Amino acid sequence: MSARGGFNSRLGFIAAAAGSAVGLGNIWKFPFEVGQGGGAAFVLIYLLFAFLLCFPVMVAEIAIGRKTEKNPVGAFTALGFRKWRIVGMLGVLAGVVILSFYNVVAGWAFGYFIEMVQGNFAVGNDFGGFTSDYIKVGGYGLVFMLATTLIVSRGISGGIEKASKILMPVLIIMMLGLVFYSFTLDNAGAGIEFYLLPDFSKITLPVMYRALGQAFFSLSLGMGTFITFGSYVSKKDNIVSSAVLITLADVGIALLAGLMMFPFVFSQGLPPTGGPGLIFATLPGIFQALGPVLGIFIGSTFFLLLSFAALTSTVSLLEVPVSYVVDELKIKRKLAVWLVAGFIFIVGIPSLLSNGASEYFSNFITYVGADKATDFMTFVGHIANDSFLPLGGALIAIFVAYVWRKSNLNKEIEQGFEGFEGSFVQKYIGFALTYLAPIILIFIFVLTVLDRFFGIQLF
Ligand code: TRP
Repeated sequence: MSARGGFNSRLGFIAAAAGSAVGLGNIWKFPFEVGQGGGAAFVLIYLLFAFLLCFPVMVAEIAIGRKTEKNPVGAFTALGFRKWRIVGMLGVLAGVVILSFYNVVAGWAFGYFIEMVQGNFAVGNDFGGFTSDYIKVGGYGLVFMLATTLIVSRGISGGIEKASKILMPVLIIMMLGLVFYSFTLDNAGAGIEFYLLPDFSKITLPVMYRALGQAFFSLSLGMGTFITFGSYVSKKDNIVSSAVLITLADVGIALLAGLMMFPFVFSQGLPPTGGPGLIFATLPGIFQALGPVLGIFIGSTFFLLLSFAALTSTVSLLEVPVSYVVDELKIKRKLAVWLVAGFIFIVGIPSLLSNGASEYFSNFITYVGADKATDFMTFVGHIANDSFLPLGGALIAIFVAYVWRKSNLNKEIEQGFEGFEGSFVQKYIGFALTYLAPIILIFIFVLTVLDRFFGIQLF
């Protein structure tokens, strides 16, 4: 183990990386994006992006990190390409922005745990009232940021590894149980159909870029999280098979969450287009129907586990700007963690107020051609998730393929994976990083920005 600390085992790395990837993105965001994106058609596009584009980018990020043992900014310098530091800086910035609103939603999840413990299932009928209470929701957000700060300040292997190894399996088992239960409800079939039977006419440009943004967000890609993780990985580990396992785990859990949610949504007669409130409006009624004792037990456990899943993600989000500040500005780690976390909490205040508490932030911007205003939090998410992350992914692919060079990538991956060079997977990763990712990601990035922010449709 180097002085920066390191993972105690390969399983430790996979568990921690999967812990970062699995979070609100899978259980809160994925179902509502599917709901707004027309159902199964969105799921299909998301799967294609996750495996064909995101997976090679993940391998590239881990390899850069392991090679350099640096944060995403320092990594580019260490490889001898100082100008490319800008990609790392974009990543640090994206991390700050994403964590600023992610922490707000994590606070909601934690708040719902408290409500469920008290048996307050009615909260589901007044989600808007819940999020408008900024003192309460702000308090939950503060608790959440404090928890994140304490874990990150204890260092990497101590905090993240232990928690995710125990809690992830419990969450999966619980969701499996809920999936089976959801199938028994009235009208479950309509939900399953919506979720699994694709209507290809629903595949539009916005569905494509939302699915792409969702894939990057859910896999924690495009901003150097995996460069940071990679910097703690041992040379004996197989990067490719680790990336396969992490991708499968993350996608699998998102799919499971959708399979559970849509029967619930349809059985309650709710619209699948409910947006960020979808799980928060749907689940309390489901738990209530289980009866007071079981409902409180299952409901509070579910939201507690969701909070832990979010915590392993907030930890990885905070880690990127912190490791940058520690390595580049030579500030002591403990101090850096508190400073960065405090700053991000403050940056998150407009997001905190943008779900009912403040009229201004709740109707922050009206896009060209849109009939409704977009709230601040959603707006920031559009910029960070659907624009910055795919752009970051494209730049990382271009960097590896054309600047650092594939031969160096292959040499790095070959350590821990004998026989990689010349294999089919090497050829695919090379092809994806050279052609597929740069072309598709840049193309969609340009179309996204024009369409969403300027209302210009080229096609
Ligand atoms: N992937 C996490 C989720 O799905 C969120 C997350 C953690 C993230 N680290 C990230 C997203 C880095 C983008 C980049 O909940």
